[in-house]
Amino acid sequence: GSTGTTAGSLLGFEAIPPSGLDEVVVPDGYSARPFIPWGTPILGFFPAFRPGTPSEGVPTGNTADEQAQQVGMHHDGMTYFPLASGDRGNRHGLLVLNHEYTDEYYLHQGTFVAGYEPRTAEGVRKSQNAHGVSVVEIACAASGEWQVVRSTRNRRITASTPMAFSGPATGHELVRTTADRAGRRPLGTLNNCGNGETPWGTYLTCEENFNGYFRVDGTLDGDSAALVKRYGVGGDRNGWAAHDPRFVVTPEDPNEANRFGWVVEIDPFEPDSTPVKRTALGRLKHEDATVQIARDGRVVVYMGDDQVNEYVYKFVSAHRWDHPRFRGRAQSPLDEGTLYVARFSDDGRGEWIPLVHGERGLTPENGFADQGEVLVKTRLAADEVGATPMDRPEWTAVDPDSGTVYLTLTNNADRTAPNGPNPRAFPPDADGRRVGNKWGHIVRWDEDGGDHTATGFRWDLFLLAGPGDGIDGSTVEPEDAFGSPDGLWVDPDRRAWIQTDGTQPNGANNQMLAADARAPYRAEPEVRRFLTGVVGCEVTGIATTPDRRTLFVNLQHPGEDGGSTWPRLDGIETPRSATVIVTKEDGGVIGT
Ligand code: FEO
Ligand code: CA
Ligand code: CA
Ligand code: CA
Repeated sequence: GSTGTTAGSLLGFEAIPPSGLDEVVVPDGYSARPFIPWGTPILGFFPAFRPGTPSEGVPTGNTADEQAQQVGMHHDGMTYFPLASGDRGNRHGLLVLNHEYTDEYYLHQGTFVAGYEPRTAEGVRKSQNAHGVSVVEIACAASGEWQVVRSTRNRRITASTPMAFSGPATGHELVRTTADRAGRRPLGTLNNCGNGETPWGTYLTCEENFNGYFRVDGTLDGDSAALVKRYGVGGDRNGWAAHDPRFVVTPEDPNEANRFGWVVEIDPFEPDSTPVKRTALGRLKHEDATVQIARDGRVVVYMGDDQVNEYVYKFVSAHRWDHPRFRGRAQSPLDEGTLYVARFSDDGRGEWIPLVHGERGLTPENGFADQGEVLVKTRLAADEVGATPMDRPEWTAVDPDSGTVYLTLTNNADRTAPNGPNPRAFPPDADGRRVGNKWGHIVRWDEDGGDHTATGFRWDLFLLAGPGDGIDGSTVEPEDAFGSPDGLWVDPDRRAWIQTDGTQPNGANNQMLAADARAPYRAEPEVRRFLTGVVGCEVTGIATTPDRRTLFVNLQHPGEDGGSTWPRLDGIETPRSATVIVTKEDGGVIGT
């Protein structure tokens, strides 16, 4: 239950009701305020936000170059890196955040125009500059108000920032292009969804739906055709191909799309550093990357591939993260190791299957000439070894106390049969159709022996989302109704913070809830709704200061279908993705 007294509960706040309001709501005793919306100036000439694009018919708007000096659009995964030790680090840090995609009508027109695509090269360049990552130095004044610092540490990484490859696919034939014949210098990052951070102080940004930015011209064959098909490359979202030939896939130059779908490592403390695409972590529609250090010091990274019937992966490094060979960062523990994909069994057990060249059918006869090819074709390799198809694997999280790993499975309209951790294949409806997993669920597992490098695990269903009262199989109570779990974090007190992106019961706005992760296997955890988003937004991205007294959460794509003016700063009515800063009015730890 989620109402009534908070006494004795890990969830030390009064649950709030579902919302349809165009404002952020948090429980009594908390405050929430918007921060660094899309267009906030952080670099160069610090151009103020002005909606619209001059070349797209709005002369008063920001140019492409100005967008590159401002916070990008569609805030998503996010990490706070303290810039000082001790308490000062709770008031001064780098906020690093992803900009997943764009709503082109708001970008270029400032208002809702269904189906709008840029018509000019300048418009396309602005769109590319609104993607990527922002590094923003922030400080908390004595008044308690957080502000952007006009610092040389601030940085924008966009869809055209020079990057490097590392790991086994570096220079591989399948990542070579006419513009980069050596296959070593990719440009930019796309559709940056979730994130991760390493104990050596770097940020991981995940390239999710990169496939949609390309246009395929002509008839491809062989590997090119197989890769385009398996990853769904095509669609020319945002109309980039008309003005930027890099986003046209042709039989003569088929590999640009293979240079996306990676996890990219960024050193946020070195603004001139080159972001690195770590190919050992595989190529998929990467949702997020949760880094866990195993007992023996090796690095484990849990990663979901967000599409219906795709898989969940983990990488285990070959060497401990603090091995002397990694001093100076010329080499990285993320470049050498084993990528595994999960197979879940119905008996509550599971195994991690290695994707290693030469093993389990990953051979030249089956189209895998070497480990680089296994990684460029990660999805095809996982098909070959018999991984378990899942209901859109989104974020992973590790309970810092128990080591239990959590995974949100957001929904799956195509599911027709129960399978492994996917419990739902509803009986046929009145029209004889089988109904998929509409509301999503959360799976958790424990690695054998509590060892994150183990190849076996046991798993449990943490909860099944939905309207409650057992409707559609949901295990939550009606007052805790939610759907489409996506963002996820388990805090050190073992609160699982759940963020939603998709249809909610009763048409409510997307939201953030907390659940008690201390619940043993097969018990129903207590859940309470903590925050409700604005009209049309998703709630995604979660970070805190080290003392957990300041919480950062992102609202992405407010008013995506119209109907929102949030955050309404400086009288601007164009809805803008923004971070929300949540604090407890008594200065306490969030959630207590
Ligand atoms: Fe970008 Fe799967 O959410
Ligand atoms: Ca999203
Ligand atoms: Ca997401
Ligand atoms: Ca999602």
